[in-house]
Amino acid sequence: MKVFVTQPILEPGISILKKAGHTVRVYPKDAIIPRAELLKGVRGVHAILSMLTNRIDSAVLRAAGPQLKIVANYAVGYDNIDLAAAKKRGVFVTNTPEVLTESVAVFTYALLLAIAKRIPEADRFVRAGKYRGWGPKLFLGAATLGRTLGLVGAGRIGSIVAQLAKGGLGMKLLYTDVKRNKKFEAATGATFKTLPALLAAADYVTLHVPLLPSTRHLIGTKQFKMMKKTAFLINTARGPVVDERALVEALKTKQIAGAAIDVYEFEPKLAPGLIKLENIILTPHMASAGLETRQRMSELAATNIIQALHGKKPPHLITP
Ligand code: DGY
Repeated sequence: MKVFVTQPILEPGISILKKAGHTVRVYPKDAIIPRAELLKGVRGVHAILSMLTNRIDSAVLRAAGPQLKIVANYAVGYDNIDLAAAKKRGVFVTNTPEVLTESVAVFTYALLLAIAKRIPEADRFVRAGKYRGWGPKLFLGAATLGRTLGLVGAGRIGSIVAQLAKGGLGMKLLYTDVKRNKKFEAATGATFKTLPALLAAADYVTLHVPLLPSTRHLIGTKQFKMMKKTAFLINTARGPVVDERALVEALKTKQIAGAAIDVYEFEPKLAPGLIKLENIILTPHMASAGLETRQRMSELAATNIIQALHGKKPPHLITP
């Protein structure tokens, strides 16, 4: 059967698909496929292996045709896919959970340390030839040991971030989610709080929620005002969870001390003014970009497709 892969990915996914007898076409450019090319590329295929940068809506599903069986997203998040439209057409939607938990969690922890200790800012300073020798006030960083971490979202990634922060820095852990999560509490020792209570108490806030109508702009002007002026925000979840213009304002007015973000509200565009700020680390949606992780994501996406094309339920089914 025919599989369309919307961007070149790491092996072994393509080989696995070919070995299973499928015809695989990969969009050849290492770039986000333009919409018109996507609509053309999916025509007549049985499976789409999509990236989180592809909007898979009813137009794409329609363009593919009634033989389409599965959209296998090469990501744990799937906010780029219209699940209702897929369900209506009986098309499976799958993701690649768990294999990227370690990469994203460690990257989040690394951002926490890097923003607290101002490492990228200091690196820019040295490279710019501004270093004139040691000084007592040069690049004063924030304390991390024993400080309070507020985790927004009690999933797999949040759980590993919590364990790293507790084990590595002896941080006190608070968390919030739609409801209390006993399993998360048992794994981390974190204490449940409402979002306002968490924001008021935390020295560091990390975001681990999926993008849903209820989490869009979860953090905006009102929430920044609830945070400590010495606090830091770290976002490796999804950009629109934070109102990016409000973030620029909060950083400019020193409403919070700093931020480190890997995801953007209108990716790959940045909110006006963001790039000019010093008290923020900006990375290009790379938290899951471990070599092994991306290989395992490739394997998982291929496995999901093979199962679906054999008329079986794929292992990482989101819908229907
Ligand atoms: C995901 O998988 O959702 C990450 O954001 C990128 O790999």
